[in-house]
Amino acid sequence: MTATVSPVSGTATPAPAASGAPAPVHPDANWWRQAAVYQIYPRSFADANGDGMGDLPGVTARMDYLSELGIDAIWLSPFYPSALADGGYDVDDYRNVDPRLGSLDDFDAMAAAAHAAGIRIIVDVVPNHSSDRHEWFKAALASAPGSPERARYHFLEGLPDGLGDDGGLPPSDWPSHFGGGAWTRVVEAAGPNAGSLGQWYLHLFAREQPDFNWDHPEVREDFHTTLRFWADRGVDGFRVDVAHGLAKDMSLPLRSKPALEILVDDGSDPLFDRDDVHEIFAGWRTVLNEYNPPKAAVAEAWVPFTERRLKYARPTELGQAFNFDLLQAPFAAAEFRSIAEKCLTEAAASGASSTWVFSNHDVVRHPSRYAFPDGSTQKDLDAWLMAGGASPELDLARGLRRARAATLFMLGLPGSAYLYQGEELGLFEVADLPLDSLQDPTWFRTLNTVKGRDGCRVPLPWSASAADNFGFGGTPWLPQPEWFGGLSAGAQDGVAGSTLEMYRAALALRRELQSEESLEWLASPSAEVVHYRRPNGWEVLTNFGAAPAELPSGVDPAKVVLSSGKPGTAAAGGTIGAETTLWLAP
Ligand code: NOJ
Repeated sequence: MTATVSPVSGTATPAPAASGAPAPVHPDANWWRQAAVYQIYPRSFADANGDGMGDLPGVTARMDYLSELGIDAIWLSPFYPSALADGGYDVDDYRNVDPRLGSLDDFDAMAAAAHAAGIRIIVDVVPNHSSDRHEWFKAALASAPGSPERARYHFLEGLPDGLGDDGGLPPSDWPSHFGGGAWTRVVEAAGPNAGSLGQWYLHLFAREQPDFNWDHPEVREDFHTTLRFWADRGVDGFRVDVAHGLAKDMSLPLRSKPALEILVDDGSDPLFDRDDVHEIFAGWRTVLNEYNPPKAAVAEAWVPFTERRLKYARPTELGQAFNFDLLQAPFAAAEFRSIAEKCLTEAAASGASSTWVFSNHDVVRHPSRYAFPDGSTQKDLDAWLMAGGASPELDLARGLRRARAATLFMLGLPGSAYLYQGEELGLFEVADLPLDSLQDPTWFRTLNTVKGRDGCRVPLPWSASAADNFGFGGTPWLPQPEWFGGLSAGAQDGVAGSTLEMYRAALALRRELQSEESLEWLASPSAEVVHYRRPNGWEVLTNFGAAPAELPSGVDPAKVVLSSGKPGTAAAGGTIGAETTLWLAP
C-alpha cells in the first residue's frame, strides 16, 4: 500500500509503517463519531441526464445544496450495476457504476466535489448476497452440482416431495424477507442431469439475490478487494447491508425457521446474528485500518438485543451499528428518554458512538408515521399503504409537527445522526402510487398483498414546477404527487420556519454547539417534557404532550436559539408548545 490522501483535510498521511510501528492517530480519525450523515438514494435524488433516473452527476450538481444543508457526510445507497430487482441491493459488479447512474469517472468527480465541500463519503456494501447476474452466480448456474463455482453460494439438493421427485421440495422451510420461500430451484445446465430440474439455491431476499457462502475463502477475499477498491478511490466509510446475516449454519439437516423475524438471542439462530459473523468483521477492520485515518463503517444489523448488536460496533469491528430503536418507537416522552439513555450507556461501554435514525429507504417516512393514531403498528402502516393512504385519514399537520420535534430531539443527542434525503423537506410517504408503477420486490413476492417501500423512494422535488418534474430531471421512474410542489426545496428555500430552514439552522448550530459524547438528564415539571444538557451547557427540551407545557424553572427563554415550532412562538409566555423541541445555547 502507498501513501493515502485525506482529501477532506487535504493532508497526505503515510500508511502504517510496514515495520509494525503504530501510525500516529490522524486528526480526522474520529470524524464519524458525531457526524450528521445524509443518505442519498441515488436513483431518486437528482437526474442530470434527463433519463428519469437519478445519477451520480446529479449528486455532483447538488453539492452546493448539500453543503448549505450542513451535513458532514453522504451515504450513497448502491449505485453499482444492477437489474434493480431490489432497487440496487442486487449487485452485479461491486467495483463499478451502473451506466444509467454514471461511470467511475463520474464517481471520482462526485467524490472530489464532496471532499472539496468538506463532505465525506460513505458507500453501501452488500455482502450477504450478490445479484443473479453477478459473474460468479452465472458461472455457478452454468456448472454442475458440486462444482467449485457453486461452492461460493448455497446450492443444495431439495427434499423428496412424496410424489416421486427426490428433490422436489426446497431444502428447508425458510421464508424470504420479501415474501414467498427462500429457495429457488434451477434447471441444470451441466452434468449428467443437464436440462432437468435440479438443485436449489438460497436467497433470503428476492430470487435475484442469491446468498453468498461466507465460509468460502474467495468470498471473504473478494470483499476485502472491494473495500480496498473504494477506499483507494477516496471513500471515507462503508455502510454494511444485512451485516447480521453473513454467517449461517448450513449443517444438514437444515433447521426449521418458518418466520425470519423470530431471532434466537444467544447466537444459535441458523441464519442471523451468529457468533461466527464477528470474525468476518474483525477481518474487515484490519483492512479498514490499513488507511490513515482508518475508514469508518456502520452495520445494518436488525438485532434487537442491544448487547449483541453492539458487538458489530466494537472498535475491533465496524465501529458503529445502526440502532433503529427510536425509529420503531412511538412519539412519547418515556420511550424516547429510555431508548436514548440505554443506547448511550451501551455505546459508551462498547467504545462505539451511538447512531440515530428516523427515516431511510426501507420505512414509511416519519412525518407520516407520526400522523397515525397512537399505537399503530407496522401492520397498520401496511394496511394504510394498501388503502392508497385513504384509511385511516392521517393528521398530517400533527405528523410533521412531531417529526420536526423528534428530529431536533435527536440532533441534540451525542452520536451520529443519519438523515434520509427529503426528510429535510418534511416529505410525507407517497401512499397512492399507481399500482403499475410499483417496483419493490415485496409487492411482487407477496402477490400484491404488501406494497413495500416505493412510497419513500419517490424522486425528490427540487422546484415547485410540476411541468418540470419538480426540477428532478426527466420523467421520474416513480411518479411524483402534486403536493410535492409545496414541499419542494425551492418553495422552502429562505422561508422562515420551513422544515428546510429548520434543518439548515439545526445542522449549523449542531456543529457550533457540539460537545463531548455525553449528556445529563434534567428534571422537568411534566412527565411529557424531556430535558437534557450536554457537557458544554447546550440544552434540549422536548414537549411530547398534545398541550403546551410550562418551562422547567431555571430555563431562560432568552437562551432559546432554535425551535421546531412556528416562528416567533418559541417559549412564548414561559411555555413550550405542544409537540415541540427547543434548543438553548450555553
Ligand atoms: C437492507 C436494505 O436497506 C434493503 O433496502 C434491502 O432490500 C435489503 N437489505 C436486502 O439487501
